Amino acid sequence: MSGAGHAWGKVILLGEHAVVYGVPAIAVGIDRGVSARAVALGEGPSLLAVGSWNIAVREDDPENDLARGLRALLDAVRQEVPALPPFSLEVESDLPPGGGLGCSAAIGVAIARAVAPGASEEAVQARAMAWESVFHGTPSGIDAAVAARGGCLLFRKGQAPGAVHVRGGPLYLCVGNTGIPSSTKDMVEGVARLRARRPEVTEKSFEAVRSLVNNARYAIEAGDQVALGRLMDLNQMVLGGLLVSTPEIEGMCALAREAGALGAKLTGAGGGGSVVALVPSPAASDAVLAAWRGDGLDGFATCVARETRVRPLESETSP
Ligand code: MEV
Repeated sequence: MSGAGHAWGKVILLGEHAVVYGVPAIAVGIDRGVSARAVALGEGPSLLAVGSWNIAVREDDPENDLARGLRALLDAVRQEVPALPPFSLEVESDLPPGGGLGCSAAIGVAIARAVAPGASEEAVQARAMAWESVFHGTPSGIDAAVAARGGCLLFRKGQAPGAVHVRGGPLYLCVGNTGIPSSTKDMVEGVARLRARRPEVTEKSFEAVRSLVNNARYAIEAGDQVALGRLMDLNQMVLGGLLVSTPEIEGMCALAREAGALGAKLTGAGGGGSVVALVPSPAASDAVLAAWRGDGLDGFATCVARETRVRPLESETSP
């Protein structure tokens, strides 16, 4: 028996961190992601090789986080499929680890699809969350939802995500890498500590994000990209107040705006990782990427079209 699965990388347009506390967020699937291939083994522990990182682990290694994540995911599948065989799993990713683009959740989704082809979207997300919990403690689920569905989504913790219809032309985005890896778990814990220390201020920040996200949804659905860019800039200010921005992130956002971006902010957990800039055209993407490169920083352009659909499941079964 063999199976294969794909998952999207993600960019959060607005709402990271606040989403952990029940505030909605808007995120898009990007055309970079993760693919996994599973081949059933006769016996023994499952094996996982992540080709892009040159790493291989066994499911029964208690010291290794990847192995613990794999075991959590496979245990979640076994609850519904007790006869699940052990697998040899090969994963390829073109997302940077610790880069804020949902690499970890995408690996979880791709593996969940590969080991149990045909599983419902809810089951795939729940299994990927079992994997995610090993790395991120208390994930909101936004990364796994976008990894599984792609498109442009309005996500609320604990609820089925809704599609946001992109009108008035595609959203052209530049995604830049600060080159500084960051741990989502550490950043989420940092915001939790801030919230415990200064509950009122943090709550006000979250309420501000709620209003920015709601307005951003209307802006996307109305095709008002200028408004969307401003809302992203405002979200970046609030994220700065939550202490998850850095001078490198602020520098990349400033470069993007100077080069013609409509708005720019960190995306994901912050503390390093990636920034996203909304640009009005592919030519503007080139200008932003050139500005970043001029400062020795890496990035790529992507776009979210109105008709972005969930990618057909690249899964297969064979006896
Ligand atoms: C990470 O991509 C987004 C955070 O909001 C964490 C989460 O939602 O699980 C920082």
